[in-house]
Amino acid sequence: MDNDYSLAQALANAAAFSVIDKARLELIARSASRQLDTAGDFIELGVFRGGSAILLASIIKHHRATRTLHLLDSWQGLPELEGEDLGTFVTEGQFSQSSEGAVRARLDGFQLLDVCKTYQGWVEHTLPELSGPFSLVHLDLDLYRPTHFALSQLLLKMKDEGEIIIDDYGNDELRRFPGVEKAVSEILAGSDWSIVESAGERDQSVRIIRQS
Ligand SMILES: C[S@@+](CC[C@H](N)C(=O)[O-])C[C@H]1O[C@@H](n2cnc3c(N)ncnc32)[C@H](O)[C@@H]1O
Repeated sequence: MDNDYSLAQALANAAAFSVIDKARLELIARSASRQLDTAGDFIELGVFRGGSAILLASIIKHHRATRTLHLLDSWQGLPELEGEDLGTFVTEGQFSQSSEGAVRARLDGFQLLDVCKTYQGWVEHTLPELSGPFSLVHLDLDLYRPTHFALSQLLLKMKDEGEIIIDDYGNDELRRFPGVEKAVSEILAGSDWSIVESAGERDQSVRIIRQS
C-alpha cells in the first residue's frame, strides 16, 4: 500500500465532489476494500462530478491493485422521467452540470485517471459493451428504467463473491425513490441476490450480495 494514502483523505476528496453523504461513502469504501481480494474490475453507473469515483479510484490506486474502474454516465443529466419516477423530487436534466472532460481532468488532478476508463452515453447503450467480470458495482442512476436495465445486466457479469451498492433506495416519508426501490425489488425477486446492509444519514444505499 502507498504510505501516503489515507482513507480519511480519500473520503474528504470524494465528499468535495459528491452528492453522497459520509455514511454512504464509507459503505462504498468498505466494500471496495474487501473486493480488492477478488479478481474483477470495479464499475460505477452514475458519476456526475466524480465524487464517489474519486473514492473508488483512490482505493484501487493506493493499494496498487491491478484492476480498472469503469465510469458510465450520460453527462447530460437524468433522462426523461416516466412511471413511478414522476412526482418525485428529481427532474429531467438534473445533474447535467458536469462533463466527461471535467471528470477526467479532476481524476487526473488526483493522479487517478490511469486506473479509470470513462464511457459517455446512456447506460442502455454503453453497459452492453462491457463484459466484466465485475467484483464491485456502484449503481447510482436514481430512476426506475436505467436501474432496472443496469441491474438485470450486471447480475450476469458479476464475480460470485462480488458486491453491488445501490444508491437512493427507499420509499417512505424521508426517502422518495420509488423507482429505484421497485426496480431493485423486481430484479432481486427472481435472483439469488439479496440486501444485506443499508447505510445513509438520510437517503439510503443498500448493499446486495449473492446468497449461496
Ligand atoms: C446522483 S448522480 C450521481 C452522483 C455521483 N455518484 C456522486 O458521487 O455525486 C446520478 C447520475 O446518473 C446519471 N444517469 C441517470 N440515468 C442515466 C442513464 N440512463 N444513462 C447514463 N447516465 C445516467 C446522471 O447523468 C447523473 O450524473
